[in-house]
Amino acid sequence: MKKKLLRYSYNEKSEFIIQEGKSIYNDVKKNWSKFFKNKNPLFIELGCGYGEHTTKFSFLEKDKNFIGIDIKGARIYKGAISLEKNMITNAIFLRTDIQNIDDFFNPNEISGILISFPDPRPKKRDIKKRLTNINFLNKYYGLLKTGGELLLKTDDEQLFDFTIDELKKSSFKDIKLYNDIHINESVHKLSSVITKYEKRFINEGKKIKLLSCFK
Ligand SMILES: C[S@@+](CC[C@H](N)C(=O)[O-])C[C@H]1O[C@@H](n2cnc3c(N)ncnc32)[C@H](O)[C@@H]1O
Repeated sequence: MKKKLLRYSYNEKSEFIIQEGKSIYNDVKKNWSKFFKNKNPLFIELGCGYGEHTTKFSFLEKDKNFIGIDIKGARIYKGAISLEKNMITNAIFLRTDIQNIDDFFNPNEISGILISFPDPRPKKRDIKKRLTNINFLNKYYGLLKTGGELLLKTDDEQLFDFTIDELKKSSFKDIKLYNDIHINESVHKLSSVITKYEKRFINEGKKIKLLSCFK
């Protein structure tokens, strides 16, 4: 508990965390080029947890801007520490509910959306909460630029199959499926990042699947 409170207190002061209660939380809404001081392409990670993808790709791809989004402050804290240590200017963590992303981005603004290991929510009554149900997919479609990519990384076969079915109801195209991205490192660039959750799933013998599709 003490650790959590220390993290929350860091988050309140950190330049690498945008959250409710800071004036920047409202200032950045639909205004990212002003925040990043450039018009570079925007990539967002939904339910980013500790932010491993957001941090790694912001180190490697300086001509893009990255935003890691999660509701849990004690998790994005870790990513923010990493951005601070490396003096990163092309990435930030946003603490908000994914339900709110329409408030933060303009239609046709985002170049790429990554959803990594979303909670599978297997119960039927939770279909509405799955981050890849048709309502969420339509929301992502509206926010992506033409040619923008949606990526899902998951260990969960049921969620993977559910997402494929939901995508068929949407306007996304060019669906590409990878059944085991760690079979070798060259399968996809996302093979190069293994998150805390992912490590656990790999140790349990699960295959990590990836789905890519485009607007
Ligand atoms: C299983 S964890 C995966 C974290 C990370 N992507 C990874 O691969 O390690 C799912 C994450 O999604 C976040 N999350 C779930 N629903 C959310 C929502 N509606 N808005 C924001 N974050 C959400 C949780 O807080 C959690 O950190």
